[in-house]
Amino acid sequence: MADYDRDGGLQEMEPSPVEETPSGSKEDYFSSQNDVENPSQPIRSSTLGLSQHSPIWYLSRIQKYSSYVFTAYGLAHIVNTSIIPLITRSVPESERYLLLTRPYYQGIPAEPLLIIIPLWAHVISGVALRIVRRNLNAKRYGDSGNKEDRKKSFFSSDFWPRVSGVSKLGYPFLPLLAGHIFVNRAIPQQFPGGQSNVNLSYVAHAFAKHPVVSYAGFSALIGVGVWHITWGWAKWLGLTPEQVTVQGGERELWKKRRWYIINALAAAVTGLWMAGGFGVIGRGGLAPGYIGKMYDQMYQRIPVVGKWL
Ligand code: HEM
Repeated sequence: MADYDRDGGLQEMEPSPVEETPSGSKEDYFSSQNDVENPSQPIRSSTLGLSQHSPIWYLSRIQKYSSYVFTAYGLAHIVNTSIIPLITRSVPESERYLLLTRPYYQGIPAEPLLIIIPLWAHVISGVALRIVRRNLNAKRYGDSGNKEDRKKSFFSSDFWPRVSGVSKLGYPFLPLLAGHIFVNRAIPQQFPGGQSNVNLSYVAHAFAKHPVVSYAGFSALIGVGVWHITWGWAKWLGLTPEQVTVQGGERELWKKRRWYIINALAAAVTGLWMAGGFGVIGRGGLAPGYIGKMYDQMYQRIPVVGKWL
């Protein structure tokens, strides 16, 4: 409830949640009517037909909507590599479904549209957001305008936005996913027949031949990825513990409750993925004859560790 101070004529307002953290400059956060760069109401259209907003507005939306596209791909991927194997209980049976859906996400234009562009857009917009917010903080809280000071303060941790838990998971997710794409997509392309050589039995072969590396690698990829995506979605939906709007004594209880629910959900999805991935594909065994030999040669192409495989 808002309080009205009769003597001072001031009105005390309840804090209300806003979409962006007020780390921007005053003009960015509370844009004035006369400000051409940051109008309080977006100018409906410019010469390009685009409405005008701050870089933070555009970058936040690129970061958010690119993850929607990648989520659609992730859902198809968990179906193919875990849920169908769990239903069929057989690698060759599951293979048929993988081959059926593959044309929808492999090749041009599906692959750049569903995977490559959204992935880069998500990561680059996240880093760019961080730099833009740092520069706004520096302008607002410290930058003297002196060139030397500016150079020094770029590395000062004072102005950089806090790295959230979601972001901390996002960075290790990147090399894990890049490694996964390299082994399953880039290496097979170097062999006659390309991607058509590779399917679930390629992964089963790795589990049978190199169990330690395979279990460790896939556990890290699935765990980090699922936790990042689950907490990421909680953030987009306004459901993280920090986004609790309840005030007073109940607040801590709600925060705790949300923390447990999000982690339980992430654990359940990780468990599901591992059940199908490890329990069925992981136990599929070595590929026979010529195919098995070709898979061995493929795994030997992995930089650094390849020579021991
Ligand atoms: C698929 C669904 C995804 C969702 C819902 C999602 C969600 C998010 C969210 C909410 C943030 C912002 C964290 C914050 O500002 O506190 C973020 C940042 C990040 N994400 Fe994702 N993400 C997804 C996929 C990915 C993928 C596939 C990668 C890379 C492999 C990735 C890498 C990153 C990185 C590196 C950051 C940190 C950017 C920064 O703040 O510096 N994300 N993600």
